[in-house]
Amino acid sequence: MKKVSVKVCIGTTCYIQGQENMKNLSKIIPEKYGDKVELTPSQCLGVCSIQWEAPKPPYVKVNDDIIKEATVEKVLQVIDEKLKELC
Ligand code: FES
Repeated sequence: MKKVSVKVCIGTTCYIQGQENMKNLSKIIPEKYGDKVELTPSQCLGVCSIQWEAPKPPYVKVNDDIIKEATVEKVLQVIDEKLKELC
């Protein structure tokens, strides 16, 4: 079975600038999606240091998509979209 991959950045920039907002993901994702979604913490995703863009942490990667200024709501919305693509 294909799964949606969710990588929550726990690098310093993301943690300091909003990772608090992501705390509930580790409870919500297993409850809502079971084993359809694989949630893992990630060291710096490398996005915060891109020169041509002002940093917009926290960042979360869902499959190949980077979510800027991630909130629980934004992450869940993208997961729902990715799960629909798998059907
Ligand atoms: S610390 Fe999160 S992308 Fe760099």
